[in-house]
Amino acid sequence: MTAFGMCKTRLQVTIRQTGESFACADDQSVLASMASTGRRGIPVGCLGGGCGVCKVRVLSGSVQRLGPVSRAHVSCDEEGQGYTLACRVAPRSELELEVAGRFCKPFFKGFASSADPVSGK
Ligand code: FES
Repeated sequence: MTAFGMCKTRLQVTIRQTGESFACADDQSVLASMASTGRRGIPVGCLGGGCGVCKVRVLSGSVQRLGPVSRAHVSCDEEGQGYTLACRVAPRSELELEVAGRFCKPFFKGFASSADPVSGK
């Protein structure tokens, strides 16, 4: 912490599926930091821990919870395996994450394909 509280620690967060990375403040949610940098690797939904679209699995590094994580989206067992909601956690170290929400399959299918899934071009 600094005398004026102006200088936030920024930690690198990398998304396994896309290889994208962005800097995340240690007092802000991973999802909010990602959105503020204009990145879109993790689906953004309610930003409040309720919809589950931002579900991720922490592959390396550690996180700090900022608020409740809905058990409807992350069970106790899953939490023990590293699953959490990106809108509910801040990084405590550099992180590598895997997107694991229900939109990850169509999202990454479209991401990986050269064809536009909507227009078919
Ligand atoms: S954006 Fe809805 S739970 Fe994270």
